Amino acid sequence: MTNIYPSQHPLVAHKLTRLRDKNTQPKKFRELVREISALLVYEATADLLVIPRDVETPLTSTGGWELKEKIGLVPILRAGLGMVEGVWGLMPSAEVWHIGLYRDEETLKPVEYYNKLPIEPTVSVCLILDPMLATGGSAVATVDVVKRWGVSRIKFVAMIASPEGIAVMQKAHPDVPIHLAAIDDHLNEIGYIVPGLGDAGDRQFGTA
Ligand code: PRP
Ligand code: URA
Repeated sequence: MTNIYPSQHPLVAHKLTRLRDKNTQPKKFRELVREISALLVYEATADLLVIPRDVETPLTSTGGWELKEKIGLVPILRAGLGMVEGVWGLMPSAEVWHIGLYRDEETLKPVEYYNKLPIEPTVSVCLILDPMLATGGSAVATVDVVKRWGVSRIKFVAMIASPEGIAVMQKAHPDVPIHLAAIDDHLNEIGYIVPGLGDAGDRQFGTA
């Protein structure tokens, strides 16, 4: 598999294990989602472009760098919302553009219910945030939307993916790198990732 980046970081592995635990309550779950998101995005953004910028230290002037690219965060509602805060801590000037999708429980197909993207793109890089890449339907639909908007530099960041979801994304959007905390074993008959962590939205928002 190319363009797939499961994190090898021990902190991610440790926190993901606590996230999976069925006894982890929503407050702790949200905290872990925030922390893991920041760690994954730190790794995912290692190739952002920078331009030279001089800086005056208290002692002298020296050369430095600043980010060249305008970054957009695209959380997929609702579960992706919980990933924004951690990433915003790293890049507070990132724009946040919400996309609302839910997975129809019968067909498992994504249904779009919110999209207020302006006509012209306002960013050059989009980080799509969603904790779960299950059948891949929601991820593919969101990348479709962002590409139609006019942004071609896209990264998908998730906590857990199924091999089936990765295959679907790679077929539809092989150019989009996928950054993950883990690749799990399989999807069950109702489209849940196994071993997974259950329903990422319900566990964050206490709606299980
Ligand atoms: C979950 C998850 C993804 C989607 C993944 O959201 O957050 O968006 O399912 O499944 P897929 O890869 O099969 O499309 P859900 O539809 O449960 O909505 P929610 O975020 O509102 O809970
Ligand atoms: N959405 C979730 O929240 N969890 C899964 O395992 C699959 C889809």
